[in-house]
Amino acid sequence: MKNFKVLFVCLGNICRSPSAEAVFRAYVEKKGNADSFFIDSAGTSDYHVGEEADKRMQQHAIKRNYHLTSIARQFDPDKDFDQFDLIVAMDGENYEHLKAMARNPGDEQKLVKMTDFSIRHDYDDVPDPYFGGSEGFELVLDLLEDASEGLYEKLTR
Ligand code: 4NP
Repeated sequence: MKNFKVLFVCLGNICRSPSAEAVFRAYVEKKGNADSFFIDSAGTSDYHVGEEADKRMQQHAIKRNYHLTSIARQFDPDKDFDQFDLIVAMDGENYEHLKAMARNPGDEQKLVKMTDFSIRHDYDDVPDPYFGGSEGFELVLDLLEDASEGLYEKLTR
């Protein structure tokens, strides 16, 4: 039974949200609880629809044993707000964009930010690494590993 349906959302769905999907999936697998979760990711934009995750993001992720396999798709309010229990935005801009697409208060209640679940880090956003250097990709993974733990604890407590 998939008790928890979680969708991670960023702008392009090629860096942060496919990584969040892989990191969170690895965490629930480590906890032996994979069967309880349906996990997916999407982008608010259509810029990279149909593409694999960014090669730089893939290379940083693989060093930590995360395989980014998802293909980019655009968030679809008419399907995704119904299908998912929790919609996790990577930054404030993604959050506001999702909020603007909410059809009713029930949709809006499903929206959270990944950094709401941080345990050790103190960031308001998972910063967009696309136009920066390798340290930005490492920071994405650090923040996602930390918040995945917090998110899992919150959902299963
Ligand atoms: P993401 O990163 O939102 O983490 O997938 C980005 C990917 C592409 C662009 C911006 C951010 N872009 O401008 O094309």
